[in-house]
This record gives sequence, structure tokens and C-alpha cells, in this order.
Amino acid sequence: MRALVYEGPYRVRVAEKAEPSIEHPDDIVLRVTRAAICGSDLHLFHGLVPDTRVGTTFGHEFTGVVEEAGPGVRSLARGDRVVVPFNISCGTCFYCRRGLYGDCESSNPANELACGVYGYSHTAGGYDGGQAEYVRVPFADVGPMKIPDDLEDEDVLLLSDVLPTGYQGAEMGGIAEGDAVAVFGCGPVGLVAARSAFLLGATRVVAIDRVEARLRMAERWAGADTIDLRREKDPVTALKSWSGGRGPDVCIDAVGLEASGSALQTLVGRKLKLAPGSAVALDWAIHAVRKGGTVSVVGVYGPPANLVPIGVAMNKGLTLRMAQANVKRYMPHLLEHVRAGRLDGRALITHRLPLERAAKAYELFDRKEDGCVKCVLLPQG
Ligand SMILES: NC(=O)c1ccc[n+]([C@@H]2O[C@H](COP(=O)([O-])OP(=O)(O)OC[C@H]3O[C@@H](n4cnc5c(N)ncnc54)[C@H](O)[C@@H]3O)[C@@H](O)[C@H]2O)c1
Ligand SMILES: [Zn+2]
Ligand SMILES: [Zn+2]
Repeated sequence: MRALVYEGPYRVRVAEKAEPSIEHPDDIVLRVTRAAICGSDLHLFHGLVPDTRVGTTFGHEFTGVVEEAGPGVRSLARGDRVVVPFNISCGTCFYCRRGLYGDCESSNPANELACGVYGYSHTAGGYDGGQAEYVRVPFADVGPMKIPDDLEDEDVLLLSDVLPTGYQGAEMGGIAEGDAVAVFGCGPVGLVAARSAFLLGATRVVAIDRVEARLRMAERWAGADTIDLRREKDPVTALKSWSGGRGPDVCIDAVGLEASGSALQTLVGRKLKLAPGSAVALDWAIHAVRKGGTVSVVGVYGPPANLVPIGVAMNKGLTLRMAQANVKRYMPHLLEHVRAGRLDGRALITHRLPLERAAKAYELFDRKEDGCVKCVLLPQG
């Protein structure tokens, strides 16, 4: 089959690779119809995720058609259309039973921190991802959700990650009716967090970024106010005045370890590599939020991050919440939001390219060029 393969930092290409097969009775093999590129794929692409092996196929946001089902699979059959959560969850372990699907302890037992994730290095189980013609999906009765007949693949594609992640980011904020909420990052995840904040009762939402097309999308798609980091060098003060002096009730970090905006953090975390990345959005979130407020983190961090102002958080009495999204838990509820047009993930898709042009697609999405917000690969050309 044709599949994207990693060749080293900033280098991916599409190559011939063996088709996946049923390795366990509960597996299905999926013929991929749509595979999105995620901000998390950029951390892999930049060579920041440990044990990302040459030859790995990325891609954890995909839809497809069941090509083959293992003998143990009960709920799916050849020909069914499905959307698949990015985390691989067994459905029966301690964590899965509590709805903490992103903490499943069976899909990547060698690692205490991360459950299995498609196409996310050997630290996340070494499963190949869906930026390919075919992908193997384990625990097929647990994760995949059948796509209702009246919906197209792209209507539900972002239920695999971005919609649940952004929504959970807002939910972890514990937003009360009338709250003012700030979202750092207007990538797909931040945009969904901003929109979800309104759905959960916020009266005012402001989104922060430096990319023109994304700021406009935050206004148009999420209905948020915006702070443009190209002009505003002190976002903490800007957020205080936006919220009448005290600071927003809730701040959401939808940026993670590759944040820009602090010369110090860029030097320490990205150039000298004395720390794993730059936690500047988190730093701003902690400083900006009002006392007693909540900071919710869905941007990804890896090893211990330096320069996180824990003393500020402690003295302000903040609640800090964070997680890899528990995708499966949110799928049914968010499907209703999608259907009703309240969370139109499809409208975030700005670019569609054939799988063969995956290298170009990564470049576009990485550089945020050409108004790129969300980029989708078409494995069938
Ligand atoms: N927790 C989860 O389950 C989960 C799931 C999906 C993605 N993620 C993570 O969420 C983050 C966002 O994902 P995405 O797909 O939206 O990524 P993205 O790269 O498309 O968007 C990130 C945005 O942050 C902006 N940014 C950079 N520095 C900033 C700063 N200091 N303040 C404000 N904005 C800043 C960038 O300009 C960019 O628009 C990534 O870290 C990704 O790995 C987490
Ligand atoms: Zn993702
Ligand atoms: Zn489990």
C-alpha cells in the first residue's frame, strides 16, 4: 500500500509499505477514506517525540471503511463506515471502566504515561497511523463509531480528536454561566475550545494567536474576541483589561510545548534544549487567570517543563486541570452537536490534498501558510 513514512525531523514522504493485517481477533483493517494532520503530528514531524522511528506512519485522526474484521469483532462488519478515536482503548481496564479512555493501561502497558495512540512513536505503543491507504485498528468493538448514513465522512472526521479535545479543554475549565474565558492558540483545538466555551455557558470568550487566518476563524467560526500577538506584546495585561481588571475566570492552553512568544523560553527550551520545549502559553495562562480561577491544559507537554510558575498558581489558589482527551467518552454527545450545526468541524477543514502530496501538506500546516487551519489527506487520491 501507499503510506506516509517518517524519515527524520522535517522529512516525511509517501512510500510503498506492507498492508496491515489482522493480528488479534478483535482487530479490524480499515480502508482509510480521510486522514487529518494534527498539531500533535507537528511535534513528531519536528523530531520532538522520543523513539519516533524511521519508517513510522503518522496519523491518528481518520475515517474509513471496514475492509476485514477479525473473528472476535461483534459490532462491525466489512463495508461499515467508521470514525476512530486517536487513543487506543481496551474498554475493560481500570481506567476505561471509569471513562478515562486516554489513560487505558492495556494498549501500551510498557509505558505508565501514555496509552496507545495511532502513529505516535514507540512511546505510545508503536502502532502505525492512518495517513495511509490502510490501517489496523485494535479493540475494534471499543473505539470506532459507525458513521450515521445521513452524514459524510468529513462531517464527523474531527470527532476522532479535535472536537473532543477542544470540548474537554473547555469542560475541564468548569465554566459557570456568565464566565469570561481565554483560549491560548487558535489552531483547530483552540478554535473548538473557544466555541465549546460558549456551548458550556461562557458569556465572553477571547482567543489569542499570531496567525491572521486563524484569528479571523476564531471570530467567525467561534464567535470569540481576539488578541493578536503580532501587535500585543503583553497578553497578560491585555487579558486583565479585557476582563475588567481581575483576569478571565478560565484560561485554556491549546498550544503546548512549541509555544512562541518568550525569548527566554525559546532560548532555553527550543534552541539550547535545556528544557523540553517552551511553556510560555501556560505561563501566560497562569499569570492572566483571576485568583481562584481554573487553568485547563490540552496543549501537549512531554517531560518536566521548566519555567512553569507553580508558585503563582499556588498563591492564586488556582485549579489546574489537564489531560489527553478521553475521546470515546465525548463522541455520542458531540455527534449531536455536529448534527445540530453547533460544532461544525467540517468548516475548519481548509485544505484537502491527495496522500501522495503529504510532504507538501505537512509543510503547509506546519508553516500555517495559505490560511491553513486543518489539512486533510485523501488516501484514495
Ligand atoms: N490533549 C489532547 O488530547 C490533544 C489532542 C490534540 C492536540 N493536542 C495538542 O493541542 C495543541 C494544539 O493543537 P492544534 O492542532 O490546534 O495545533 P496547531 O499547531 O495547529 O495550533 C497551535 C496554535 O498555537 C499558536 N501559538 C503558538 N504560540 C502561542 C502562544 N504563546 N500563545 C497563543 N498561541 C500560540 C500557533 O500560532 C498555532 O496557531 C498541540 O500541542 C497538540 O499537540 C492535544
Ligand atoms: Zn491529534
Ligand atoms: Zn483500557
